Amino acid sequence: MKPEFQRRVQRYGWDKAVDYYEPSWKRQLKPAQDKLLKMLTLKKGEKVLETAAGTGLVTTRIAKAVGTEGEVVATDLSDEMIERTRSRAKEQDITNVKFHRMDAESLEFEKESFDAAINSFGLMYVPDPVKALQEMNRVLKPGGRAGVAVWGKRKNCGWNEVFSIVDERVASDVCPLFFQQGTGDTLKKSLQRAGFTNISVDRFQVPLYYEDDETALMAVFSGGPVALAYRKFDEKTVEAVHREYLESIKPYRNEKGYHIPGEFVVAKGFK
Ligand SMILES: C[S@@+](CC[C@H](N)C(=O)[O-])C[C@H]1O[C@@H](n2cnc3c(N)ncnc32)[C@H](O)[C@@H]1O
Repeated sequence: MKPEFQRRVQRYGWDKAVDYYEPSWKRQLKPAQDKLLKMLTLKKGEKVLETAAGTGLVTTRIAKAVGTEGEVVATDLSDEMIERTRSRAKEQDITNVKFHRMDAESLEFEKESFDAAINSFGLMYVPDPVKALQEMNRVLKPGGRAGVAVWGKRKNCGWNEVFSIVDERVASDVCPLFFQQGTGDTLKKSLQRAGFTNISVDRFQVPLYYEDDETALMAVFSGGPVALAYRKFDEKTVEAVHREYLESIKPYRNEKGYHIPGEFVVAKGFK
């Protein structure tokens, strides 16, 4: 897929996903976001960049960690996501965050401007993940640290069939590199290629709970990267993709709902 096309699919897809994202993923991603923030040990007064900030689930936590003497700059490719982060911060009376719609691969900041940089579950969507990491490296001060969270290996993420189910019905793959960084030691190598040293990586499994068919379907079709393609499906196609996806996650269902296997990889590196 051409990078420019991939960016458009992501930008407008995430605009559509904004209302469904938190009901679908807030609880499920929290263990990885907790680990990421713990790894980074943010301090009061630090200036932190976040790329692919989404609805601001991590942003407001960073803002609290660095305190009013510190600052967070939250960026995302999607206008709707950035607006949601802005309103989340406002609701919580958080005043130390700046917001910019910006591509993670071309950051419009001076070099050596930040103490830390974070990308939580955004690297799977950029056309060139190493470039996005290089950009994080460029804007970090010497000795600054970066933290990244991605999904793990495809076979350890029980919801992965959604991509082939959707890709079969659209002209080009929606997320061609989705599981790339979380497979083997790819993320570590990407951080090294981007100039980071002293890299630590943690891979762990967490089941993703959905109480019923409806919430499990909403998470993958409306709350994430395939939202743009899904919105264009006619009624018959929607029925078919729902049926196929539910069939693919049937092994993870019991009377209490779905517990779908999920694997996360979180990593830290220093400039
Ligand atoms: C799964 S959400 C992650 C949101 C948040 N960081 C979190 O942990 O909840 C992925 C985000 O990546 C953003 N994104 C996708 N491609 C991007 C790019 N090239 N540059 C910046 N953000 C991008 C999307 O708009 C979306 O908000």
